[in-house]
Amino acid sequence: MKFHVISFGCQMNANDSDWLVRALESRGWTETPEEQASVFIVNTCSVREKPEQKVYSLLGRLEQYARRDGGVFAAVGGCVAQQVGRGFFERFSFVRLVFGTDAVALAPEALERLAQSPDERLALLDFLPTYAEREDPAPKAGGPAQAFVNIMQGCDNFCTYCIVPYVRGRQKSRQPGAVLAECRGLAARGVREITLLGQNVNSFGLDRGGAGVSFAQLLRQVAAIPGVERLRFTTSHPKDIADEVIAAFGELENLCPALHLPLQSGSDAILKRMGRRYDTARYLDIVERLQRARPGISLSTDLIVGFPGETDADFEATLRMVERVGFESSFSFKYSDRPGVAAVRMEPKIDEETAAARLEHLQNLQNTLTKDCLEKCVGTQTVVLIEGPSRKQDAGAPSLRGRDPAGRTVNVTLDGGADLTGKMVPVRLVEAKKHSLVGEKAGASW
Ligand code: SAH
Ligand code: SF4
Ligand code: F3S
Repeated sequence: MKFHVISFGCQMNANDSDWLVRALESRGWTETPEEQASVFIVNTCSVREKPEQKVYSLLGRLEQYARRDGGVFAAVGGCVAQQVGRGFFERFSFVRLVFGTDAVALAPEALERLAQSPDERLALLDFLPTYAEREDPAPKAGGPAQAFVNIMQGCDNFCTYCIVPYVRGRQKSRQPGAVLAECRGLAARGVREITLLGQNVNSFGLDRGGAGVSFAQLLRQVAAIPGVERLRFTTSHPKDIADEVIAAFGELENLCPALHLPLQSGSDAILKRMGRRYDTARYLDIVERLQRARPGISLSTDLIVGFPGETDADFEATLRMVERVGFESSFSFKYSDRPGVAAVRMEPKIDEETAAARLEHLQNLQNTLTKDCLEKCVGTQTVVLIEGPSRKQDAGAPSLRGRDPAGRTVNVTLDGGADLTGKMVPVRLVEAKKHSLVGEKAGASW
């Protein structure tokens, strides 16, 4: 069968989609461009209204293929699938599978079955009590040098704006042994950079699936695997970050000097109403300790503007916090009402115009901070793990794209034609662009 996957949402969704591709390929299915596919798999995100709407408009557009060829069908997975469930069957006659967030492991088999019985429809929406291990399909030869590894599923925090606990279910840690085995397997295949994934990695092990191993311990065990040259993790909740995890930044050389630590708001009153369970003083204390453990650590964050009841003064407090911490980058969003979350009932709602103006203001500030951070790198030397050709190729010398240890995108101009994808390359940084750096080869080692 020819299939095409479209993925929305966070890295966990992207990782699930990558796994689905590999699992289907190992069954003899072929990934193709949209126009040639007979099966569409849409992995959805429900975190804000916009990505949810995109799912409906995408399915509306893909339906044309089913109108032309009755054999074409679609599967909808992920967070909107969990939320809307069988509702997709009513809205789109060509949708024949909905699979929730705990059913990813079952999707390849379900798709095989549906491909053989054209009149059938399936809904796999149950939450499971423990983390569902998946088969480990053979990776493609010469795969990327970076990999993501799930360490947990779900979230128990119920921040008042957030739908994730409802659509991903309760937190379920994966068995530490399974995480380590996957990481060892990846390192043995040549993967050099591993990112551990979870909605709240700092509370790893603190649920029923926990096996007495804390996140700090897991981090140390993964860091000790030979061949793991770079280790990252995301996402961290400030209320749960342990002293041992902060200390790890000073102790583990291969733990990358970067941390994504969602702040959400710089106003203590709003943080309280968001149910985040930390205040700005605690956040600043964490930042200080991180900077002491690893001077120069690059910090990034998530921010929401226009949360119900956010005043001008609250918003200004966010601007001041962002400036004070000096985030290297941030993702910022307008608050979006989600069905069933506590903030739906909070008043007053902030009008669209005010929220849009606040978002723009915040993003302008962030752009200045990002520029400052990138400019400080110019003139220094670093090591870039090459990911592939640059997106933009200027006339003249070809260029490669990769990341420095902090995760900054670096475009490196090449003079030879050697394929350096997956290689660690010493680079001198020569120029800062808006969101990336430009480097030149350094030393004579390559
Ligand atoms: N588990 C992660 C984030 C998951 S969602 C954490 O706790 O940090 C990613 C980001 O989307 C959140 O950090 C938040 O900034 C944003 N977000 C979540 N719900 C939202 C909503 N209802 N409206 C706007 N942004 C939201
Ligand atoms: Fe959502 Fe909060 Fe859980 Fe993050 S920690 S996924 S923001 S409920
Ligand atoms: Fe979206 Fe689900 Fe991730 S709602 S952000 S895809 S956990």
